[in-house]
Amino acid sequence: MSGTSLDGIDSVLVDLGRPEPIQLANYYLPFDDTLKNSLLALHQPGHNELHLAQAVGNQLARMYAQSIFPLLSQTDIAAKQVCAIGCHGQTIRHRPEHGYSLQIGNAALLAELTGITVVSDFRSRDIAAGGQGAPLVPAFHDHLLRHPGIHRVIVNIGGIGNLTNLAPGRPASGFDCGPGNMLMDAWCAKHTGKPYDDNGAWAASGQVLPELLERMLGEPFFSLTPPKSSGRDLFNTAWLLGRLTGHEAAVDVQATLLELTCATIAQAIRQHCAGAREIYLCGGGAHNQALVNRLSALLADCSIRSTGALGIDGDLMESTAFAWLAQQALHGKPANLPLVTGARHPCILGAIYRSL
Ligand SMILES: Nc1ncnc2c1ncn2[C@@H]1O[C@H](COP(=O)(O)OP(=O)(O)O)[C@@H](O)[C@H]1O
Ligand SMILES: [Mg+2]
Repeated sequence: MSGTSLDGIDSVLVDLGRPEPIQLANYYLPFDDTLKNSLLALHQPGHNELHLAQAVGNQLARMYAQSIFPLLSQTDIAAKQVCAIGCHGQTIRHRPEHGYSLQIGNAALLAELTGITVVSDFRSRDIAAGGQGAPLVPAFHDHLLRHPGIHRVIVNIGGIGNLTNLAPGRPASGFDCGPGNMLMDAWCAKHTGKPYDDNGAWAASGQVLPELLERMLGEPFFSLTPPKSSGRDLFNTAWLLGRLTGHEAAVDVQATLLELTCATIAQAIRQHCAGAREIYLCGGGAHNQALVNRLSALLADCSIRSTGALGIDGDLMESTAFAWLAQQALHGKPANLPLVTGARHPCILGAIYRSL
């Protein structure tokens, strides 16, 4: 898995042959600045972009392959014993309104380099059936984390924030809430040179700017009725700059961005998950203590913990979900939740590149 944050690749080796997935090993391979900048550039129209997208896709496939071998070497499992790699690929355009979502990463090359079957391109079929193609992890959350009597919400805070609503006796719902870490990361990198604001310490030293927050919350995406999904196509540096007067102190913008992430998640939970009692966080944002504190204050009537409390390390949730999604594809089982994505019907997700 490599998500919208563009931080790097999370790999996990999972045994899905039991009722609960067993995470046997994991490995994190960060992107260097050159690759991150190439990927960022590909989010916008640019000169020779078709060639560049394919070339960077090949580079990504090599990096995905490079992360498989250290993963396997932590165990005595050989590549030949691995059923499949579920490879999300790197999103460079997410435009369900235009009928596509584009992930690069050359799955054929990854299969060739590893000798392992690869399942990729998980989003296209759902979009072809009229859906958003996202979010896809709610089906996995529903499969694994539902409680028969307790209303739970799983909140993934990656580059984008998304949630899964697991109300007892009702089908799972879920959607993207808005920016998670993405805007905070971009602003922090611009002003401090660091890729992210460790523990939200910089944000916590600033003041929330109410007028700026209000301008940001005026974004129509926040009040759209689900199904809805988003990405860097909407929430990017231009979006942020368009809401600044230019007179704000950088640290106060960071404080306001953290508040935006927390406020939009809390608002989404209040509006769409009324009665929720337990909130479980996953994704990198769960490490941001200032963010977790603020979210806990905004949702004081719920308990807030990491998904680690349910047995799934929050840093491995999405990568484990894509292993499960690959298994669904290989078994010919549907894996989208039409209520979540808006697709007309359940679909088998993913393209399969088989290895002998
Ligand atoms: N200690 C930390 N403090 C604050 N933010 C953190 C910390 N650790 C990770 N993060 C955030 O998590 C992000 C990575 O989250 P991740 O779940 O991998 O997102 P994505 O799925 O979009 O790649 C980082 O870019 C950073 O913003
Ligand atoms: Mg990541």
